[in-house]
Amino acid sequence: MLRARDIPIKNADDIEKMRTAGRLAAEVLDMIGEHVRAGVTTEELNSICHEHITVKQGAIPAPLNYRGFPKSICTSLNHQVCHGIPGDRVLKKKDILNIDITVIKDGYHGDTSRMFCVGEPTVIGRRVCDVAHEALFRGIAVVRPGATLGDIGHAIQVYAEGERCSIVREYCGHGIGKDFHEEPQVLHYGRQGEGVALKAGMIFTIEPMVNAGKRHVKLLPDDWTVVTKDRSLSAQWEHTVLVTESGSELLTLSPAEH
Ligand code: MF3
Ligand code: CO
Ligand code: CO
Repeated sequence: MLRARDIPIKNADDIEKMRTAGRLAAEVLDMIGEHVRAGVTTEELNSICHEHITVKQGAIPAPLNYRGFPKSICTSLNHQVCHGIPGDRVLKKKDILNIDITVIKDGYHGDTSRMFCVGEPTVIGRRVCDVAHEALFRGIAVVRPGATLGDIGHAIQVYAEGERCSIVREYCGHGIGKDFHEEPQVLHYGRQGEGVALKAGMIFTIEPMVNAGKRHVKLLPDDWTVVTKDRSLSAQWEHTVLVTESGSELLTLSPAEH
């Protein structure tokens, strides 16, 4: 059982540094959008992001060497759910791609991901991306002091399942700060009123993985890439969220996202 006292409360200095890290992570996604086109490989997207983060931002790409992860970003394509490894796969029209960026700046992490479509997506591709985006914002909408982690998961699950999609259970959002992953675990399913109560100064990610088919997943032999068992399309969006006195502040929201 998680106890509220296990969850770090950030001070004003931590929060300011988390704002900077979050803004930089979002900027990488703004930057990479125009490069997501038919003919490009996910390895090329990785290189462009790596260069931008290290040279332009003077920051560190957190995934690189994290528990042995070999690249600087995660690229999860079509039926890949999360933790896809950039490689020689060439993007083609109708692909849907999640790009997940985590940067470390001044010792603090900012973590965010979005979906990108290559050309016009299929109807189902567009739909699973839209449902995952709305699911994230349904979760964000309930964040305020006194709400519980279960309230967040419940809002996400009820919405996504109501849209005849499914929510992946095996991976979740997480507290974030000087550590990439810390308490609490933020499940994207649950029951209202369950789990610890939120307090101002907590910072965590919300990052629902939504499948067009069944919720079950499997891990590929590369030990990183997670895919849907039924090979249905999967989509995910992620923000780093600060609990404020009045609700929430999205540390990874860019002016370009709406
Ligand atoms: N950014 C992912 C998350 O949202 C974690 C990636 S871990 C990696 O939590 F090692 F695969 F990069
Ligand atoms: Co995350
Ligand atoms: Co992430």
